Amino acid sequence: MRNILVVVASSHKNANTDTLSDSFIRGAEQAGHKVRKVFLGGKTINGCLGCNACRFGKPCVQKDAMNELYPLFDWCDTIVMASPLYFWTLSARLKAFLERLYATSMPDDHPQKGRYERYPEKDCVLLMTAADDFFWTFEQAVSYYRFNCVRYLGWRDLGMVLAGGCGGCGTARRVPQVYLDEAYRFGRNL
Ligand SMILES: Cc1cc2nc3c(=O)[nH]c(=O)nc-3n(C[C@H](O)[C@H](O)[C@H](O)COP(=O)(O)O)c2cc1C
Repeated sequence: MRNILVVVASSHKNANTDTLSDSFIRGAEQAGHKVRKVFLGGKTINGCLGCNACRFGKPCVQKDAMNELYPLFDWCDTIVMASPLYFWTLSARLKAFLERLYATSMPDDHPQKGRYERYPEKDCVLLMTAADDFFWTFEQAVSYYRFNCVRYLGWRDLGMVLAGGCGGCGTARRVPQVYLDEAYRFGRNL
C-alpha cells in the first residue's frame, strides 16, 4: 500500500483542480492507500532564495508553510501534483513548492548526467485542469514535469490526467465527467 501526498496547487477549494484531485483520492482510498491532501491555496510558500544554506547541512532558512510540508514529503512514497494551468504552465504555487524541494537534496558520489545531487526517491503523478482543450494545451506543463520531476529529481512517472475544457476558474466545478472518471480509475488502479 502506498503513502500518497496530494498537493493541490489551486487557490479555489472545491473548484476544478480540487474536484479532479478528490476523484483521484476517492479511487486511491478505495484501493486501500493512505492519502494526505494538502491544499496550497491560502498558504504562503515562497520561492527558493538560492542561499544554498541547505547545501551545507542546514534546514531551509525560510519560515513559511513549507515547514509543515517537509515532514509530509518525507512520509510519502508517491507525490501527486495537482495544478490549474496558468499561462500554459504549472501554477506559481506548485512551482514554488517544487523549488523548495531543493532543500531535500543529498550529496551524490556518482551523479548521473544532468544531475549534481540526489533527491528522495518518489513515484509521481500529474493532475491538471485548464480552460482550453487544444492538442498543445498542456505541452509546457508536461515538458516541465518530465524534465524536472522525472529526469532531474529522478521520480518515477506513474501517469497524468490532463483535464482540458474546464472553463473559467473560480468557484465553478466544470471538469468534464470523462476526466473525473479517468482520475478515479487512475487512483483505484494504482
Ligand atoms: C492566471 C490564470 C491563467 C490561466 N491560464 C490559462 C492558460 O494558459 N490556458 C488555459 O487553458 N486556461 C488557463 N486558465 C484557466 C484555468 O487553468 C482553469 O480555469 C482551471 O481549471 C482553474 O482551476 P481552479 O478551478 O482549480 O482554480 C488560467 C486561469 C488563470 C486565473
